Amino acid sequence: MKLLFLNGVNLNMTGRREKSVYGTQTLEDINNEIAAFCKERGAKCEFYQSNLEGELCTKIQESDADGIILNAGAFTHYSYALRDAIASVPTPVIEVHMSNVHAREEFRHKSVISEVCRGTISGFGKNSYILAAESFLL
Ligand code: DQA
Repeated sequence: MKLLFLNGVNLNMTGRREKSVYGTQTLEDINNEIAAFCKERGAKCEFYQSNLEGELCTKIQESDADGIILNAGAFTHYSYALRDAIASVPTPVIEVHMSNVHAREEFRHKSVISEVCRGTISGFGKNSYILAAESFLL
């Protein structure tokens, strides 16, 4: 089992931006914990972050992973390109958010990618990634 953890726009700022919302750990810290979790479960993992919508689409198109765990950041709320990239591949994608997007501003309540994702996990901080990974490993 190979899992791709894909992070979109501004997720590289995790640990440095809006700490009360996203915590103080960097994306690298979080990825290290996820890597340890995957290793314990005998799963391979790959990590990729980009602020560029097209790069995320290409990564989805070219991935050889069995499952993709995607935090698209703000692209979640308006990127039809990302939605179509997810729909264009057979690989199951789980949408994740560290914050509870439904308890925040109105514009975050809408996701244009949910419809083409296997499911959504939102509001559990870094554990949103772990819970999504767990669902592939059950
Ligand atoms: C986020 C929520 C999005 O609304 C926001 O734009 C992000 C991060 C989250 O992980 O909670 O950048 O996806």
